[in-house]
Amino acid sequence: DSADKGEYRHFMLKEIHEQPRVIKATMEGRVTESRVLEQALGTEAGELLQDIRHVQIIACGTSYHAGMVARYWIEDLAGVPCSVEVASEFRYRKHVIQKDTLFLCISQSGETADTLAALRQAKQAGFRAALAICNVPGSSLVRESDLVIMTQAGPEIGVASTKAFTTQLTALLIFTLALARTNGLSKNREAEIVKALHLVPGQVNDILALDADIAEMSRRFMDKHHALFLGRGSQFPVALEGALKLKEISYIHAEAYPAGELKHGPLALVDSDMPVITVAPNNSMAEKLKSNLEEVRARGGELFVFADRAANVNPEHNTHVLQLPEVHEITAPIVYTVPLQLLSYHVAVLKGTDVDQPRNLAKSVTVE
Ligand code: G6P
Repeated sequence: DSADKGEYRHFMLKEIHEQPRVIKATMEGRVTESRVLEQALGTEAGELLQDIRHVQIIACGTSYHAGMVARYWIEDLAGVPCSVEVASEFRYRKHVIQKDTLFLCISQSGETADTLAALRQAKQAGFRAALAICNVPGSSLVRESDLVIMTQAGPEIGVASTKAFTTQLTALLIFTLALARTNGLSKNREAEIVKALHLVPGQVNDILALDADIAEMSRRFMDKHHALFLGRGSQFPVALEGALKLKEISYIHAEAYPAGELKHGPLALVDSDMPVITVAPNNSMAEKLKSNLEEVRARGGELFVFADRAANVNPEHNTHVLQLPEVHEITAPIVYTVPLQLLSYHVAVLKGTDVDQPRNLAKSVTVE
C-alpha cells in the first residue's frame, strides 16, 4: 500500500529508499541496453524532435531544479539552446520566442497553479509544441500538453520531493538523448550514456547503504543556523536542491552557490559556524572545485564533501569526506542528489521537526 509507511519512520525516508526501483521503472519501455527507443516519447514525437531548435523549460520548486540539470544535458549532448525559468516569473513577463521552440514543463503533481498558467499562456504564444514531464496520470498538465513523459515515481506523500526529482531527471535524460540523436549524437556516445543510466539504480543503492555514516555526519548540523551548498556545472542544481531540502524540513537557512562564485560574496560568511557542503564527483571540474574548497578551509569553515573516490579529496582538519561510488559524469547529478536528501532527513529528525509535513508548505500549490 503506497499510503503506508511500511517499515519506515517517515514517508520521506520510504520514498528516498524507493528510488532505485522507481528510477528503473521510469526507464522501462523507453530504453534498451544501449539505446533510447524510438517510441520513448510517444509515436508523434520523432518528427517533432527533428524540428526543435530551442527548448524552454518551466517549473517550480524541486521540479525547477530538475530543469536546471536538464539544461546542461540538452546543451551538452543535443547542442540545442535551452532556457530554464520558474513558472511564477515566466508567466508575468514578455518573452521572445524563437522559431521551433519546444515548451517543456516539469511537475510532480501536474496541478501547480503557476506551471499550469505558464502552459496555458505558452499554448497561445507560438511554441512549436508543449511537452510535460509529470508524475500524476490524468492531471491537468498531462491533459493539456501535446506530449507527455510520465515519471513512474508512484504517489509521493512527503512534502519534500525526493523520488519525484530523481525520476524527473531520468525522464529528462531520456528526452535529451532522443533529441540529441536527431542532432548528431553518435551511437557510441548514446550507448555509453544509456549504459551509465542502467547503473544508476545500483549506485543509488550503494549510497543508501551509507545511511549510518550520513546520519553520523548530520549530528554536526544540530546547532547550526546556516549552511552553504556548493557545486559546479551540472552539480550546481544538485547543490540548490540540497539546500532546498535542508531549508524545507530542518528550517536551517541554506543557500547554494556555484563554487566559482564563492569569492564574489558568500566567502564573507564563512567561519567556523558555517558548514559548507559540497558535491564533488570526479568530473572535469573536480580540480577547480578542490581549489574552491581550499578557500573555505583557509577561513576556518567546516567542510562536508560528498566525493568520488577518484576525485582524491582528503579528509583533513575540519573536512569530513564521504566517498561515493564512481559514476559517469552525465548521470552523476541523479546519484549525488541522494546523499543530500539523506543528510537533510537526518538533520530534521534530530531537530524533531515534522519531516513529512513541514510548517507553512504544501505538497501541491494549486492556488497562486
Ligand atoms: C511545492 C512542493 C515542492 C514542489 C513544488 C512544485 O512547493 O512542496 O516539493 O517541488 O511545489 O510542485 P510540482 O508538483 O509542480 O512539481
